[in-house]
Amino acid sequence: MTRPGPEYDRYFEGNRANWDERVPIHVASQGYDLPGFLAGTKHLTRIEREEMGDVRGKRLLHLQCHFGMDTLNWARLGATVTGLDLSGAAIEAARDLAARAGIKGSRFVEANVYDAPQALGGETFDVVYTGIGALNWLPDIRAWARSVAACVAPGGVFYIVECHPMLWSLDDKSAGALVVKYPYFETVEPGFVADDAQTYTDGPLLIEAPVSYEWNHGLGETIDALLQAGLHLDFVHEHREVPWQALPWMVPGDDPRTYVLPEGRDRVPLTYSLRASKPA
Ligand SMILES: C[S@@+](CC[C@H](N)C(=O)[O-])C[C@H]1O[C@@H](n2cnc3c(N)ncnc32)[C@H](O)[C@@H]1O
Repeated sequence: MTRPGPEYDRYFEGNRANWDERVPIHVASQGYDLPGFLAGTKHLTRIEREEMGDVRGKRLLHLQCHFGMDTLNWARLGATVTGLDLSGAAIEAARDLAARAGIKGSRFVEANVYDAPQALGGETFDVVYTGIGALNWLPDIRAWARSVAACVAPGGVFYIVECHPMLWSLDDKSAGALVVKYPYFETVEPGFVADDAQTYTDGPLLIEAPVSYEWNHGLGETIDALLQAGLHLDFVHEHREVPWQALPWMVPGDDPRTYVLPEGRDRVPLTYSLRASKPA
């Protein structure tokens, strides 16, 4: 059983509407840099490329793939990719992007991540991958981990790069100070209800569905959920950089498209990466 109870359906519906409305804004945004992607200059992050290693010939599932840019970047590196996302608009835009980029053989599936094993007909993958800004939309990390583990083939891996729960707990309006405002641990009800009409990229405001529902998950809760689901932990790394200006006083990092806390005040991790494997 990988689906949280029906009491969560209204949150999923709210988030789906919110993401449907964000998709065209993100596709047109400078932040996502579609022209750069089409020209082959908008890559996965350095951490992702180095830690994932060679994906040539591997079957890769990208959960919560948004409009497929990172999914298709893995395809460019040689993986056979499937993307899955809750938002129908995101899936449509992903298929369109694959066609525009001339990337053949990719597949995009509209489904809730909790329903992934059923939506994919029980198919399993060499690599299951999740990128930045995914887990915060999910209420129940244990049920998520069971869904993830069900999609990993024996001998395969799950790899995630994600915002650190420490970052999600910080007050993003507090200038120059690290102030813990939101829950670090998972909560039953959303720990964060946003009605911010400005999405995290440039572009117009959200009008139809500005409200979204988010939950935090402590790093230990996420690791334990994956272990309980039968995966083995290969590594977990905490990082000082994040690929967007999550707090207004962050400064550009050494790597292109990254932000860090100013030197001397970089006292907490901002992202983490983790790999877990399924015994063969
Ligand atoms: C911030 S985006 C992912 C970003 C991705 N790493 C990128 O930068 O393109 C979050 C995605 O999660 C999807 N999502 C949210 N809740 C979901 C759920 N329950 N099941 C599947 N996808 C979900 C949204 O539709 C959205 O496309």
